[in-house]
Amino acid sequence: MPLPKAELHVHIEGTLEPELAFALAARNGVELPYRDTEELRRAYLFQDLQSFLDLYYGLTAVLRTHDDFTELADAYLARATAQGVRHAEIFFDPQAHTARGVPIGTVVEGLARALTAGEERYGISGRLIMCFLRDESAESAMHTLEAAKPYLHRITAVGLDSAEVGHPPSKFREVYAAAEALGLRKVAHAGEEGPPSYIREALDVLGVERIDHGLRCTEDRDLVERLARERIPLTLCPLSNVRLRAIDMLEEHPLRDMMDAGLLCTVNSDDPAYFGGYVGDTFHAVREALGLDDERLRELARNSFEASFLEDDEERRARLIAEVEAYDFGVRPPE
Ligand code: HPA
Ligand code: ZN
Repeated sequence: MPLPKAELHVHIEGTLEPELAFALAARNGVELPYRDTEELRRAYLFQDLQSFLDLYYGLTAVLRTHDDFTELADAYLARATAQGVRHAEIFFDPQAHTARGVPIGTVVEGLARALTAGEERYGISGRLIMCFLRDESAESAMHTLEAAKPYLHRITAVGLDSAEVGHPPSKFREVYAAAEALGLRKVAHAGEEGPPSYIREALDVLGVERIDHGLRCTEDRDLVERLARERIPLTLCPLSNVRLRAIDMLEEHPLRDMMDAGLLCTVNSDDPAYFGGYVGDTFHAVREALGLDDERLRELARNSFEASFLEDDEERRARLIAEVEAYDFGVRPPE
């Protein structure tokens, strides 16, 4: 049995595997600019975040109906469950779909249906986090929040994603204030490619409770101390950082130093169909590359539940943390 964990940073559009992309393209009569899944996979060589986003948003063209979104989320929940994920807080990008004429209700209801079924089928709990595209205008984000109002009972939080540099969190001050007034929790991507000042802005201007990525906080010692003191969770995505070239190789990832500095780190997959693995694969990869022992892995798993938005089910959170504490890693054969 794999180590129980929560996943707090996964974009549902980033779980679209090439096989499903081609199946949906055929079903919906969408022409893809790739001959087959192999040619598509060969295109997964990214220079940076933007080069990834160009391909990634292009591929969302295959997602059109309720059923498409349900199938996408169900496939993720099945894979995540197999890797020990017991609770998932899942990002979605409504503007990537509404811009193509797909109503926001189709997206939210399609995803929510998979989450409800997933509880029954896999025993996994799920929440939805609606992200605004930060390279679109604040007005567009506000319009998206407005359009989401009939579906807020299915949405736990708002987030901020897409191209970071040049689009600081402060651009979305009013939208986040409006989201808070509607009772939504708040997170934001910050410090993936952007500077440490974006992390401060996300905290001070937007009032976020978690920082997605937060990798570049390590450049600012005062910020690291503050994040540790205030127990602000970071949802790190080490495989993503390598694939999008925020770091050269996994062995150089600062995760271990960040944990040593007292930061509340979690480890996540980001866009698992594109970055070489789901969250269990990510745990395995950081264990190998950074030499993390079992207790470090236990800490990451415990953190994932502590940082999760399970306030509406504290009993479940406590039960899952108890499972992490009691988890027996067993004896691994010498390698
Ligand atoms: N950063 C910003 N936006 C994203 C990412 C990411 O890593 N993945 C999907 N959308
Ligand atoms: Zn992300």
